[in-house]
Amino acid sequence: MRFIGNKENLVEKIYQKMIERNISGNSFFDFFAGTTNVGRFFKKKNFQVFSSDLLYFSYVLQKAYIANNQELNFEELLKGIDFKTQSLFSTPLQKIVDFLNQIPDKQGFIYENYTPAGNRMYYSEENGLRIDAIRLQIEDWKNTDLITENEYFVLLACLIETVPFYANVAGIYAAFQKKWDPRAVKKLILRPIEFVVNDKENFVCNVDSVSLINTVETDIFYLDPPYNQRQYAPNYHLMETIAKYDNPEIKGITGLRANYENEKSKFCNATTALQELKKVAEKGKYKTLILSYNNEGIMPETEILLLFGKIGTVELVEFDYLRFKSNNNGESKNKKHIKEQLYILRK
Ligand SMILES: C[S@@+](CC[C@H](N)C(=O)[O-])C[C@H]1O[C@@H](n2cnc3c(N)ncnc32)[C@H](O)[C@@H]1O
Repeated sequence: MRFIGNKENLVEKIYQKMIERNISGNSFFDFFAGTTNVGRFFKKKNFQVFSSDLLYFSYVLQKAYIANNQELNFEELLKGIDFKTQSLFSTPLQKIVDFLNQIPDKQGFIYENYTPAGNRMYYSEENGLRIDAIRLQIEDWKNTDLITENEYFVLLACLIETVPFYANVAGIYAAFQKKWDPRAVKKLILRPIEFVVNDKENFVCNVDSVSLINTVETDIFYLDPPYNQRQYAPNYHLMETIAKYDNPEIKGITGLRANYENEKSKFCNATTALQELKKVAEKGKYKTLILSYNNEGIMPETEILLLFGKIGTVELVEFDYLRFKSNNNGESKNKKHIKEQLYILRK
């Protein structure tokens, strides 16, 4: 998924840096979960994973990939619905996804507000109708007890993983494009997610992670905070609305959610970010804290080193990384080399 700060292509490298330094353990706190790519990686390495994020759509992904710990069989649903047309060899999830791809269109909040029918061009009208139909069907199955809580979040995660492929945006949802991107006019086909299973009980939350420092105790705290003043909630407002489907009050040409007070991050301001980091580093219950940051972040390197130096031994590891820039469709001429940083603090 395209998401600012997504560590999908970096997590293996981060892990190698850990191995080289003999940093190991059994439990891992993914403090700023986002897409869950980091949590998933460490879950596959059989760490017990804890994670949290302020964004609800991240919570949906966390429930599906991190908290859920088995291949689900959708027993009730498969009993009640005629799936005769499906292949015998499909997995239960694939059968449900195929079914959802065939249900009739429905007009709902996305069609009415984020397609040309609502004077916005985030999605084509055809795909707005698909998103509403699928989202409403999943909610209806939950309300009629045809799916379990885990099945509900897995189906929502399928939708959350699918919709970015058809969004008419240049990476973030702060604005839609004025011309249709070719991928936005393709018909939306729901895709199944992978199940990630390990031997541990894993826990996920949808709260300010700093509020968890007295409760969560793990060998490793992995912190990947926002790097600049741009809040995530307005940049991903439409992902939030598809996940919550709460008919929010929206405003302006871009249809932003009018209220996102409780999703504002203190890590988007240099002063409050340092104050929050201090709380986590001082009071958190970990053996090793790893902070992912870069040389353009709003917290100055000297301040971070000074703060960590007072708490334990600190090492700064740097490597070059080709950054995804949100506003240019990832074209190579606009790609930019920055220094990706890992601050490693051992108590
Ligand atoms: C750089 S991204 C993390 C990316 C993630 N590592 C990944 O691979 O997708 C930062 C994330 O921190 C979240 N966030 C910011 N402040 C937070 C806080 N105080 N508590 C929990 N999550 C927060 C944002 O919503 C965003 O998803």
